[in-house]
Amino acid sequence: MIRALHRWPGLAGLLLVTLIALSGAALSVFPMIEHLSSPQAGSELGVGDLAARIQAQYPGVEQIRRAPSGRITAYWFEDGAAGAAVIDPKTGQGVASADARPTERWLVNLHRQLFSGDTGRLVTAAGAALMLVLAASGSLLIARRMGGWRNWFGRARGGLAARLHIELARVAVVGLMLSSLTALWMTASTFGLLPDQTRMPRFPATTSGQTAIPPDQIAALTALPVTSLRDLSFPDTSDPTDTFTLKTDRGAGYLDQGTGAVLAWAEAPPLARVSDLVTMLHTGRGAAVLGLVMGLMALSVPVMAVSGFVLWLANWRARPRIRGNVPAGQAETIILVGSESGSTWGFAATLHRALGKGGQAVHVAPMSAFDPARYRAARRILILAATYGDGAAPASARGFVERLHSARALPDVPVAVLGFGDRSFPDFCGFAQEVAQLLATSGWSELLPPDMVDRQSPQDFARWGRALGQRLGLGLELAHLPVQPATENLTLISRRDYGAEVQAPTAILRFALPRTGLWQRLAGRGFARFQAGDLLAVMPRDSVVPRLYSLASGRRDGFVEIVVRKQPGGLCSGQLVDLMPGDSIRAFIRTNPRFHIGRSGTPLILIGAGTGIGPLAGFIRANRRRNPLHLFFGLRHPDSDFLFAEELADWQQDGRLARLSTATSRGAHPKHVQDALRAEAEQVLAVIRSGGRIMVCGGREMAAGVANALADILTPSGLTPAYLKAEGRYVEDIF
Ligand SMILES: Cc1cc2nc3c(=O)[nH]c(=O)nc-3n(C[C@H](O)[C@H](O)[C@H](O)COP(=O)(O)O)c2cc1C
Repeated sequence: MIRALHRWPGLAGLLLVTLIALSGAALSVFPMIEHLSSPQAGSELGVGDLAARIQAQYPGVEQIRRAPSGRITAYWFEDGAAGAAVIDPKTGQGVASADARPTERWLVNLHRQLFSGDTGRLVTAAGAALMLVLAASGSLLIARRMGGWRNWFGRARGGLAARLHIELARVAVVGLMLSSLTALWMTASTFGLLPDQTRMPRFPATTSGQTAIPPDQIAALTALPVTSLRDLSFPDTSDPTDTFTLKTDRGAGYLDQGTGAVLAWAEAPPLARVSDLVTMLHTGRGAAVLGLVMGLMALSVPVMAVSGFVLWLANWRARPRIRGNVPAGQAETIILVGSESGSTWGFAATLHRALGKGGQAVHVAPMSAFDPARYRAARRILILAATYGDGAAPASARGFVERLHSARALPDVPVAVLGFGDRSFPDFCGFAQEVAQLLATSGWSELLPPDMVDRQSPQDFARWGRALGQRLGLGLELAHLPVQPATENLTLISRRDYGAEVQAPTAILRFALPRTGLWQRLAGRGFARFQAGDLLAVMPRDSVVPRLYSLASGRRDGFVEIVVRKQPGGLCSGQLVDLMPGDSIRAFIRTNPRFHIGRSGTPLILIGAGTGIGPLAGFIRANRRRNPLHLFFGLRHPDSDFLFAEELADWQQDGRLARLSTATSRGAHPKHVQDALRAEAEQVLAVIRSGGRIMVCGGREMAAGVANALADILTPSGLTPAYLKAEGRYVEDIF
């Protein structure tokens, strides 16, 4: 909702807001120029003396004005001609032309009204309102992204465009809000929408009847410092009923032209003072430095407009493409998609196309948009749901379970659930199974029994499609070719071999960082932005299904590193372990934010065995802040598969790794990593009690052993592994 409130007004008003901000930034320099180029009156000079000096130079003077910048201008009428000049208050003499600068006038016209009178004023006011909406919604988005207002200045992550957008926004947002609010106030004032702010008192009914008192003999003027003056108008001396008209920053009134007495006076109403303050804040007139600061902030708008547009375009290009999507209220079939990295959307598109060919009206939406009240024409719902880590919901299914709990089952709309997962994970299609169960207990009827697709298998999908076709009485052929993101060529630069002696050939493979284009860097996609714990999706020869390997390096390391163990009969691992320096593979990056080290300074316990050391080594290498990290590493034999042995020793030396505990499973005293944990139960518990986190990477059995050991270790504290997992303090990357 907030994102939509930021995105659509941002796109709609991109040019308008940029134009207003740029012209505003250009205008912000004029108050300073005016202030520096105008002779200033000292605070001791009174208005009476100033008026007398000017009158001595220009006997026909009719009006003296002082601008907030301190510039004094006099207007006179002499020998039948009007004159005006900027005045040096020391001499009363004109020193410069009073005409406004043409550039400034042009810019003001553009900024205030787009050269189009009242219509233009309304359009620019709409621009100010848009800016306000963008600043407010953007602030909420930043707070959300940073994990709360307290982290407002926390490190911004993402591609170049995202970082630029956030860095500028959090500095400039106050200025932009102030500019837009004050602009709206000024527009309301211009259109008479604010209560009356009249400053002038009623014109005096009687005067002394005398004329021509010199201004420097009028007490009200001599006592008034020039710095408080706004405007002094001289009376027509041929008309004794006329008066001096005086306006100051406190109020306004009329002075007798014969005696100098104050005939009428009105203090400025509070609202008028607010308006003065608003004008000063918006224009910088009277506060030139503030004006320049606001101008600088306004300059961030075009940069934010461009970076915001790039971000939107990157998301738009990566969005699932469903052609001819029927609105939810008119569709007979509703397809809901739960996906994290996008592949399930491809399956949904294939299903949508096939059903469409069969004459069906189909609506496809993310599971997070589940809203049965809108499904007025629906005859069935098909849910395609992927699973991420421990049976959790993927990104596009967030909130689905809550929505399901609060929805009533539609009596005539049966549901089919198709899970997408990977059998090598302990909780295969766990989320889809949870959804199917929840639907059954919530009273939804079943269209088909829940089914699963393993590793995006087109065969599994086609099989389910045939069952669905049969149920619907349609000949449904689901021929899906998974579309993978664009791959890059990675060239091997070095390899280190381990494990031959223990019958577990393992290699640390280091590839050169591929070149990234400007677009990738701006959008922060692919190899432009990755970190240890993300996944390298490698395309094996003779297969269209990528294999995923945890990355042991991040972009900042300047290379791409993975640890691979040759699996008996494994297609991809065999090809990788056979690579020689100079050989290359095709691969792309899949982000895996669940298994990132994060930036909090809390202590960390890293637990891994075998190739599971890969991402953990990457975390330690990236630990430039020297957060306390304690690594438990399970290996077979120190002489054969002590992966990263040299680096781990170096990292202990330079403080990136606080403590290393190893467990070797071969030899006289075989020990597993969970045994090492138990042996150091007290230290482990102390770290967890102090708010520390646990990250586990490795095989399924090892992870189960570690979970058991942790359950025992945690018992005295009343904590459980499940509780820590729910808090995000215990994460696993299991294969
Ligand atoms: C980090 C990660 C964790 C995963 N966890 C599980 C899991 O716990 N159970 C499962 O069956 N599949 C798991 N998978 C496999 C995905 O669910 C599967 O690849 C799915 O097809 C991805 O769909 P998507 O591209 O639409 O997100 C995981 C994949 C990744 C990358």
